[in-house]
Amino acid sequence: MSIERKQLADHYGRVATDLRVSVTDRCNLRCTYCMPEQGLDWLAKDSILTDEEIVRLIAIGVRDLGVTDVRFTGGEPLIRPSIVKLVEQVAQLPQAPRVAMTTNGIGLELVAPSLAEAGLNRINVSLDTLRADRFSALTKRDRLADVLAGLEAAKQAGLNPVKINSVLMRGINEDEAPDLLRFAIANDYQLRFIEQMPLDPMHQWSRENMVPADEILDSLRQHFALTPADDERGAAPAELWNVDGSNHSVGVIASVTQPFCGACDRTRITADGMVRNCLFARREGDLKTLMRAGATDDQIAEAWLNEMSAKAPSHGIDQPNFLQPQRPMSAIGG
Ligand code: 5AD
Ligand code: SF4
Repeated sequence: MSIERKQLADHYGRVATDLRVSVTDRCNLRCTYCMPEQGLDWLAKDSILTDEEIVRLIAIGVRDLGVTDVRFTGGEPLIRPSIVKLVEQVAQLPQAPRVAMTTNGIGLELVAPSLAEAGLNRINVSLDTLRADRFSALTKRDRLADVLAGLEAAKQAGLNPVKINSVLMRGINEDEAPDLLRFAIANDYQLRFIEQMPLDPMHQWSRENMVPADEILDSLRQHFALTPADDERGAAPAELWNVDGSNHSVGVIASVTQPFCGACDRTRITADGMVRNCLFARREGDLKTLMRAGATDDQIAEAWLNEMSAKAPSHGIDQPNFLQPQRPMSAIGG
């Protein structure tokens, strides 16, 4: 028998319903703010959850713990050979969560139709620049064309609205906000800028080098008229703006300058089966070891609930004692 349905609640009145599952810590790009070009230790192969283990944890989340949304992340989730099968199995769970993915778009050209057919509802493609030379400098790989083809394929496959996530960095692509927005509007993609958070592997993030939301909006306003598109922000972190009075919108996620921790509804599972109650958490709940030691679904649910109840009120980036998490973004999942 399954336990009575519970909620992933914490001590600050928040309830997590949005589960992010990292299916690999590896990636085919090396975005400078995410992964070092060399020298990152990969998780050991046998510590990575199997498909069966991933689906079991997600099933516990949606059946017993009130999870309504599942997002596959990485590293790069499309690198996992079984990703389409995973999407299909999760989309077919009795409680049918909404299924989404955050990808760098490489390989999406080939796999977008199968993902759509498997039941993927939404997709976010990360793209920080439209200039091939900058793309290569930023990701250490010459793959801009693949990403653009992936975006187009996702649209053709009906994964609409296709969303683009962009991170602006000072001295690298900070001048590209208007071009990215023009591109998104012309192709019917929904663009969202995300402030760069201190999650980089070399711990080189600095507030001065982060391009803040205000600055992004100022640079867009030189070229577009922006009007607020929503009154209620709720748990959706993107502040949305309508562009030139049209239905096209642009989002700005001010994770650092206007933290939305108070409305956070997220819970995360890493590729090696740890529950994280926050991107910035300095502790994790080890579901993998429990599961591999033969724990029941109830025992796993209990451990998950415990970890979430210990969620801190906010990321504390502004606190003097703020410490980056030990894991880089690539091993947590976006
Ligand atoms: N701050 C903000 N966003 C980040 N991403 C990766 N690292 C950071 C960071 N430090 C984004 C990527 C991608 C998603 C997985 O997370 O650009 O869109
Ligand atoms: Fe790969 Fe995404 Fe990290 Fe870039 S941000 S290196 S695409 S996981």
